[in-house]
Amino acid sequence: MVARDRARRLQAEGRDIIDLTAGEPDFDTPKHISEAVAAALAAGETRYTPVNGTITLRKAIVAKLAREYGVRYELDQIAVGCGAKQVIYNALAATVGEGDEVIIPAPYWVSYPDMVLACDGTPVVVPCGETAGFKLTAEALEKAVTPKTRWVILNSPCNPTGAFYSEGEMRALIKMLLRYPQIALMTDDIYDQIRFDGGAPVCPTALEPELGGRTLLVNGVSKTYAMTGFRIGYGAGPRALIAAMNTIQSQSTSCVSSLSQAAAVAALNGPQDFVAEALAAYRQRRDRAVELLNRVSGLSCQTPDGAFYVYPSCAGLIGKKTLEGRILATDFDVVMYFLDAAGVATVDGAAYGLSPYLRLSIATSIDKIDEACARLARSCAALN
Ligand SMILES: Cc1ncc(COP(=O)(O)O)c(C=O)c1O
Repeated sequence: MVARDRARRLQAEGRDIIDLTAGEPDFDTPKHISEAVAAALAAGETRYTPVNGTITLRKAIVAKLAREYGVRYELDQIAVGCGAKQVIYNALAATVGEGDEVIIPAPYWVSYPDMVLACDGTPVVVPCGETAGFKLTAEALEKAVTPKTRWVILNSPCNPTGAFYSEGEMRALIKMLLRYPQIALMTDDIYDQIRFDGGAPVCPTALEPELGGRTLLVNGVSKTYAMTGFRIGYGAGPRALIAAMNTIQSQSTSCVSSLSQAAAVAALNGPQDFVAEALAAYRQRRDRAVELLNRVSGLSCQTPDGAFYVYPSCAGLIGKKTLEGRILATDFDVVMYFLDAAGVATVDGAAYGLSPYLRLSIATSIDKIDEACARLARSCAALN
């Protein structure tokens, strides 16, 4: 990402930059999880595992899905990959070819459209504006459907907006999808444990078992347990799809690191105190960031339902002139201005398919959020 690279370069040059571009938790991995790696190493768990993951890990995943979503999967309906990223890629690579369309609500996680393109498919991006809570409606979905539609990808809570589909919203989408049996549904639930509403998770296959035959639930341990470097993600879905994904994985990466799989078992089966503690910290940071950003002239910020990002609109800054006489014409210009004038690194909404917005990560300390917002306020006040 251009802004992130420039921020790192400025930091290397000794500039004081507050980096709010991180897409990963700032917490350490819980100790019992790291200890599970040492134990696996000591036990000699250093060999190839089955392509689709160890039986112990798949059992832990099946148990999590039953416990939290109330859905039942068998072990051969689970695929384990190098992060949710590889699971999503394998699913698309196994099913998407030239001419196939994949519906992606925007703002979206940056990798979806590029992965579809890498599989020779066509991303069909559906803008989901702020008034719709940055969420896909059944009407907007239906308008985007064509005979070539192969998949719809939903990410809830969403990176970058934090938007979370309520049960009612999910039911409306399900009702529509039931009329189009050729369309498969992928739900990227990687932020499922970082939700501020306190309500129950919303799982489409629990709400409508009929969708089970064409839905892939994607998840992982990266965000929930601060384990991004372990590279463990998983998918749960119909047997034929999982088998096709495993065929691809078997000829690309064989399997995921045996030690990381042992760590993921400890994460899923072990104590969950960390999850609640991290959530409480994210909530505090979210509330502070939203409050402070809404005081900055030119920015306005909705309160996200989940994940660890805020996505303020910078429409009020577009057209403003910097002290050097440069006009801020796009959200990318705003990002560069904030980087140079305030020493705060953010990401432009254009990267996520919906402008003019900024993504700020709150996976950082309250002190940094305070300081960053104070700097943004000063640099906005200096605009004409
Ligand atoms: C929405 C979303 N999906 C998937 C991923 C990939 O996660 P993993 O580390 O499991 O590959 C990310 C990581 O940023 C993400 O934000």
